[in-house]
Amino acid sequence: MTKAFYITTAIDYVNGQPHLGHGYEKVIADVIARARRSLGEKVFFLTGVDEHGQKVQQAAVNEGKSPQAYCDELAAAFKDFASKLGLSNDDFIRTTDRRHEAVVQALLAKLHASGHCYKATYKGFYSPKEETFLTERDRRPDGTFDPSYGEVIELEEDNYYFRLKQHQRWLIEHIEANPDFIAPPYRRNEVLGLLNNNVLEDLCITRPAARLTWGIPTPFDPSFVTYVWFDALINYVTVPASFGDSAILSLLNESDKSSLAPRPSPLPFGLWPADIHVIGKDIIKFHAVFWPIMLKTMELPLPKQILVHGFWQKDGQKLSKSTGNIVDPIAVIDEWGLDAFRYYVVRELDIGPDGNWTDAGFRARYQAELANGLGNLVNRSLSMLKRYRNGLVPARSDELASEAEKVIRETVANLRSNQLQAALQSVWSLVARANQYVDHTAPFKLAKDPAQAKRLDEVLYNLAETCRILAVLLWPFLPATAGKIYSQLGLSETPDKLADAAWGRLSADRTIGEPAALFPRRD
Ligand code: MSP
Repeated sequence: MTKAFYITTAIDYVNGQPHLGHGYEKVIADVIARARRSLGEKVFFLTGVDEHGQKVQQAAVNEGKSPQAYCDELAAAFKDFASKLGLSNDDFIRTTDRRHEAVVQALLAKLHASGHCYKATYKGFYSPKEETFLTERDRRPDGTFDPSYGEVIELEEDNYYFRLKQHQRWLIEHIEANPDFIAPPYRRNEVLGLLNNNVLEDLCITRPAARLTWGIPTPFDPSFVTYVWFDALINYVTVPASFGDSAILSLLNESDKSSLAPRPSPLPFGLWPADIHVIGKDIIKFHAVFWPIMLKTMELPLPKQILVHGFWQKDGQKLSKSTGNIVDPIAVIDEWGLDAFRYYVVRELDIGPDGNWTDAGFRARYQAELANGLGNLVNRSLSMLKRYRNGLVPARSDELASEAEKVIRETVANLRSNQLQAALQSVWSLVARANQYVDHTAPFKLAKDPAQAKRLDEVLYNLAETCRILAVLLWPFLPATAGKIYSQLGLSETPDKLADAAWGRLSADRTIGEPAALFPRRD
């Protein structure tokens, strides 16, 4: 069976409303998913929410709600957020889905039965807020812990542990032999540094139900619930299982499989292994250390790539609800439009480093690059075609063809390597070139001179065809804008095939639609 290109995002904790960091990650994953589809690949794009654990239980208690009722509300808000962002996701997982609980329990039972887990007593420091055990190494020189851990307590309790240590050498070798497994390269080096300089501790994968109830019951011992991260990572294989992926289904027995019902009809292609897990830099250890070892012990192939993005700040400060230093993506989209938000986050920040949102920077890009750059180009090109040629596309002319083709090649190469920021830079070099072409050829002057009619035809064709190609190149990033350009050109299809970014496809003698501002100017 063939395999689809399977891309996932981190699943967001539902302990608050969606924020800029969540929005950014989902948009970059969506751009990659759309780009692959546009390149002709079969794609499956998964996103969703992470509902169990202390953080979420606490948030529910703070609001005086039961965890399930609280999660139902927030999961609906995150689902709405996904559509607000224009995501083309194929499924939306909630870790409280029955299908997910079934897969987690089945895999845990299997790991336990095959000796990968053991029970032991832990005595030491614990951060209830982060649901994490801490060691002496986590203490600062003055003996305190980082404030992000909240109140740190000392406790002694029994738990189940997953054997990690024995796989450390194998993991180092895997990362070394697969240079693209963790991207960008400095994140890979960070993980290799961590693995080469530390001995991995076994991972505690349960929490006593006596102190945390909001989790998936441990199948082999009902007095425990599953540690939220062990549960959360498995979402990436739950969905393939629920769509009938044979690699995952082969691990489940008949009763596990029946718990996946009601199942959508099986996909005619496989999903696992994932091609890309898109995640933020704070959760790299879970994805690049724990997850590969979990998969190895389940005898499943590893994902091909963990693509790690940086963190957004606003005005040079950490995003924080308590200090009010936030960007509300929903408010930005309501005010400026979805494509303006998608454009700014992808253009401003490459996948990797940290970024800084400023309202002034957002407005500046909107004004210069969207309104005056792309918007103005499309609007004046099509308005002139309407005015001077009654909207009829003139005969083909290839004056800008080689420059457009160079940009097409660069953009496609950048999309294939997930260099999204570079792809936009390349596309905007064509926007700038075409705007310059308008200034140089001055069609408004040519129109006054009947002897220049042929020259005016050439210029108008080059502009209209450049607009069409821009629409195709922009589809993964700005789907609504790309669609508008196509319909203003009088084209009824969707510009969602990169193969159509080939010069000369706009045929002569067809009539364009109505030009309208793509990005209204704001003063
Ligand atoms: N629930 C876990 C992920 C489980 S994946 C199996 C989690 N949730 S989260 O809501 O805290 O974060 C979700 C994603 O948003 C993570 O990839 C995280 O890195 C990202 N971001 C959170 N804050 C961010 C910024 N300020 N900037 C960019 N991304 C950030 O972790």
